[in-house]
Amino acid sequence: MRRARLGILISGRGSNMLALADAVREARIPNTEIAIVISDQADAAGLVKAQERGIETLVIARRGRQRAEHDREIVAALSAKNVDLICLAGYMRLLSPEFIAAYRDRILNIHPSLLPAFPGLDAQKQALESGAEFTGCTVHFVDETLDGGSIIRQQIVDIHPDDSVDLLSERILIEEHRIYPEVVSLVLESIVGTSIDE
Ligand code: GRF
Repeated sequence: MRRARLGILISGRGSNMLALADAVREARIPNTEIAIVISDQADAAGLVKAQERGIETLVIARRGRQRAEHDREIVAALSAKNVDLICLAGYMRLLSPEFIAAYRDRILNIHPSLLPAFPGLDAQKQALESGAEFTGCTVHFVDETLDGGSIIRQQIVDIHPDDSVDLLSERILIEEHRIYPEVVSLVLESIVGTSIDE
């Protein structure tokens, strides 16, 4: 059986990407390699962190193109790398329907709220401003909707009376780094059972 191949899309800091890389290295995501990390931002801090770990990186900037054209280039890069599963990790662009069709049920995302609550940008701020007593994070399949695909795993995080967006985000991030690798491992196991055998 060959190793499963992950493609990770980032736009910024890349801490979830690193959490996945650590889990791969420590075989908490077993029998897997990170085939490529792609960023739509040339200055994404996560790119350097990936390179420091010897992971191949690629910048595919939008350069004023339409979403569909930009996504076609990303899909071509992912398929050239024979990627089995794509993890969005702080990737700040919506995917085109063509991208999703090319990798249906093979694209995961992590979002810093208990979806369907607080989709979109600034989820932690939305949670604080709502007066909720708890929020959390969600790993879900990506479909054509904004943060609306099937939910795989969620983790609750309490909101403290004196919380700030930064403090809450930090506590949520700890849980993101824990559950994302667990879900990737589970999903890959099901893929391995069906189509990675050579
Ligand atoms: C995380 O909070 C993730 O849930 C959201 O964007 C943030 C990315 O952080 N989608 P990082 O780049 O993984 O550090």
